[in-house]
Amino acid sequence: MNMKLDSVKMILILLGYIVYFGNMVNVNNHFVDAERVENFSDFEKPQAKIIKTTHGDTYECVDFYKQPAFDHPSMKKHLFNYKLRRASSSKRTSNENFGFLWENGIGCPNGTVPINIVTKDEFLRLSSFSKPRGSWNSSNNQINVGNDQHHFAVSRTKERKRKRYTGATMVVSINDPKVKYGQTSSSRMHVQFGDDFIQIGWIVNPKLYHDSKTRSFVYTKAGDNQCYNQMCSIGIISVRSDFPLGSILGPPCVRGSKTGSYDTFGLLKDKINGNWWLEFKGVEIGFWPAIRFQHSYAIKIEWGGEVYSAFMPSPQMGNGHFPDKHPAFDAIIFNITTFDENYIIDKWVNNTEIFRDNYHGYNVINGRYGVYSYFPSKHIIYFGGPGNI
Ligand SMILES: *[C@@H]1O[C@H](CO)[C@@H](O)[C@H](O)[C@H]1NC(C)=O
Ligand SMILES: *[C@@H]1O[C@H](CO)[C@@H](O)[C@H](O)[C@H]1NC(C)=O
Ligand SMILES: *[C@@H]1O[C@H](CO)[C@@H](O)[C@H](O)[C@H]1NC(C)=O
Ligand SMILES: *[C@@H]1O[C@H](CO)[C@@H](O)[C@H](O)[C@H]1NC(C)=O
Ligand SMILES: *[C@@H]1O[C@H](CO)[C@@H](O)[C@H](O)[C@H]1NC(C)=O
Repeated sequence: MNMKLDSVKMILILLGYIVYFGNMVNVNNHFVDAERVENFSDFEKPQAKIIKTTHGDTYECVDFYKQPAFDHPSMKKHLFNYKLRRASSSKRTSNENFGFLWENGIGCPNGTVPINIVTKDEFLRLSSFSKPRGSWNSSNNQINVGNDQHHFAVSRTKERKRKRYTGATMVVSINDPKVKYGQTSSSRMHVQFGDDFIQIGWIVNPKLYHDSKTRSFVYTKAGDNQCYNQMCSIGIISVRSDFPLGSILGPPCVRGSKTGSYDTFGLLKDKINGNWWLEFKGVEIGFWPAIRFQHSYAIKIEWGGEVYSAFMPSPQMGNGHFPDKHPAFDAIIFNITTFDENYIIDKWVNNTEIFRDNYHGYNVINGRYGVYSYFPSKHIIYFGGPGNI
């Protein structure tokens, strides 16, 4: 568990051009050439190596350039400057290598990345279901229409103090809410760029993953497109041959236990080319090219729980309990940080407000100071609930 994200390291990440991601693909001068772009249909053909995680999930090792994101029209017009890089060679951590997640102990071969195999039918089925979103358009205690319920219990940046952000991070507890097929429950960070956004964190989504396990996810909305993970051409471009997006996290926290399971997520803008990078456990996992988004800064950020249900009643959020304002008993997101337009870190993030749309099902509490000595933290958000509304 690497939860260290100090400012020195963050600066190194953002300036981290010197050390590029050496053991990934071999790209001439790190420029990707337009001819390499392939069709989505090519991606569907089972041509690549199949490998398994220790949990038994299968992933396809896809050539770096055959990722769906290379099918996007913008990728055909541009020569991309991919300076793939890690934070700093001097800042290596034991978690830098994700080989332990795989049956083969390594992951995919060099030059390829693991992708969850998804058929076009599956993709179309998922695209009309459970579109994640921000809480800003929801109102307090709104009357739900029975189906298509969407609920939030979040802490979010205040609109009247609108800023331009270049990044945000969180440490999130891993929980296992009870979720039925046709429902989702996530603990996530939502970063809004104009009308576009990126969500990162964990989700239980039986329709997407065919089980009720807690799994990592990213969700991208850019223009008219939106999708999970690498499922469409505006999705994330993975750079790790050993990190399976969508794999099982945990084991889930045991309520009342002082030792829990936590993971660190970050979304950071590259200082030079403006690409947005996903960090997991302090390691760069992949990126979204800057030109995907109309706006080059994030304007709003929120952290917390989001649930969706196609029917009544709604599912659990977090650990299924209303928050008690205690780190051992609640689903939490803590040590949240933001980066301003000058890439300066804010480790307090005092400019937030809480929002939950229906207190009968879910709640959220903002705590700021290290009240519990065994659990040092700055900004901590307690949230969750039984749902059932
Ligand atoms: C991948 O490349 C790295 C660095 O070039 C090398 O150390 C490693 O052995 C390679 N792995 C495989 C599986 O070829
Ligand atoms: C993409 O697919 C279409 C139809 O399957 C094909 O005609 C075209 O040549 C493909 N393009 C590339 C770059 O592979
Ligand atoms: C809020 O609703 C408006 C109009 O329906 C839409 O254009 C906008 O994208 C929504 N914003 C968010 C953050 O969902
Ligand atoms: C945020 O609030 C804390 C507690 O009141 C305070 O110590 C800190 O200086 C504030 N930080 C900023 C950046 O305003
Ligand atoms: C959270 O922040 C506190 C106070 O800055 C620090 O002592 C602690 O190590 C951090 N924990 C994690 C998991 O990042």
